[in-house]
Amino acid sequence: MAKTKTAFFCQNCGTQYAKWVGQCSACKEWNTVVEEVVQKEDKSGWKTVSNTSKKIAKPLRIQEISTEKELRLNVHDLEFNRVLGGGLVPGSLVLIGGEPGIGKSTLLLQIALKLPYKTLYVSGEESQKQIKMRADRIHPNSESCFILTETKTQNIFQQIEAIEPDIVVIDSIQTLHSDYIESAAGSISQIRECTSELIKFAKETNTPVILIGHITKDGSIAGPKILEHMVDTVLQFEGDRNYVYRILRALKNRFGSTAELGIYEMQGNGLREVNNPSEILISKNDDRLSGTAIASTVEGMRPLLIEIQALVSTAVYGTPQRSATGYNAKRLNMLLAVLEKRAGFKLGAKDVFLNITGGISVDDPAIDLAVIAAILSSNADIPIEKGVCFAAEVGLAGEIRPVQRVEQRILEAEKLGFDSIYVSKRNKIGLKNTKIEVHLVSKIEDVVSGLF
Ligand code: TYD
Ligand code: MG
Repeated sequence: MAKTKTAFFCQNCGTQYAKWVGQCSACKEWNTVVEEVVQKEDKSGWKTVSNTSKKIAKPLRIQEISTEKELRLNVHDLEFNRVLGGGLVPGSLVLIGGEPGIGKSTLLLQIALKLPYKTLYVSGEESQKQIKMRADRIHPNSESCFILTETKTQNIFQQIEAIEPDIVVIDSIQTLHSDYIESAAGSISQIRECTSELIKFAKETNTPVILIGHITKDGSIAGPKILEHMVDTVLQFEGDRNYVYRILRALKNRFGSTAELGIYEMQGNGLREVNNPSEILISKNDDRLSGTAIASTVEGMRPLLIEIQALVSTAVYGTPQRSATGYNAKRLNMLLAVLEKRAGFKLGAKDVFLNITGGISVDDPAIDLAVIAAILSSNADIPIEKGVCFAAEVGLAGEIRPVQRVEQRILEAEKLGFDSIYVSKRNKIGLKNTKIEVHLVSKIEDVVSGLF
């Protein structure tokens, strides 16, 4: 019998060591290095046919390489297609990560059910009955979706050979284990082995494989960083579990841009694609309330109008409280300091609370001006006029700074029926024939005199 071979792996970043160490020298985490059994046997997770007739790749002149337009499988979900860059590329591996309970299984089951191709949904987490119950709620009559509950890769490949699916979904990569490695499911060497078996299968049969991956406390996909390097596309499914909106974004994409994002709404019968997100993120309240302002932001490539709410009140404790939901608290403090020092507003003894509605978080600096407008509106208790929105960054000197893609922001605001938008004087705008009034401002005072 072959001698059992072991090695030590950092469970955080996947670095391999010959002996145990207390701290991983690569990621500096303590107590993450664990011994795992690695058996070096003849590996044949996915039986390769091409092994017998091994072809050796030859270099080609760049002009000789054919550039036929690569075929993409339409996944029949506008948002998912958009994030993938136009559909699934045959033979590619897509990894989708996200917090537990955010809706990864729901999203992929829903896509598997809607697809007109033969789809195999492999689950290591739920039984076939449980999946059926969920499927009945989401999309009751699907004819081409097969459900398999299995965790051993060799058995999965056997079933794949039997039904020859067009797309394979694995829920989740952390539950899989391969016979060729002795360590437990979810360990670094198992994840690496199972992924490479799946890659081999995908590339040889030209079948796309979608993997679900768990994420760790700090938000990165559990398992070695190498997992992210191995696959072609890494997507992240995120959102606040207390709200219904979910955002799907690409962190890495070998076949498309990473700037796209997809928005979904979690409903009783699965996830609904949100094709016009601005409309839902702004409350359709006809009463004008003080302390709310609308910002025109760009998330990825998509313009998005969001509502910002601020509450400014007299501090009850000695130290005023400042809190921000969906917005960087440090940036809020900075803007308050700018208001105090550059525009003469005395907010030092006030509590300031800020909230971005819809449970989304935004780090686009172009919402600064809307944050300031919301704070000033709440402070003066004067509502901002209906139909006004903002798109500008505010600098430390109190100057209104230009932002990227300002024309896209203006057009989105116009499309949604806004009458006027405040942008920086230094933004060059080449738009003609717009109905929306564009206010060019350079100082906070210009905005204050225009609004109140
Ligand atoms: P799930 O897909 O199991 O999350 P993950 O695989 O990311 O861990 O989603 C679980 C949550 O989604 C669960 O809390 C209930 C909610 N949900 C709905 O609100 N509506 C639905 O139709 C479904 C299927 C789930
Ligand atoms: Mg799940």
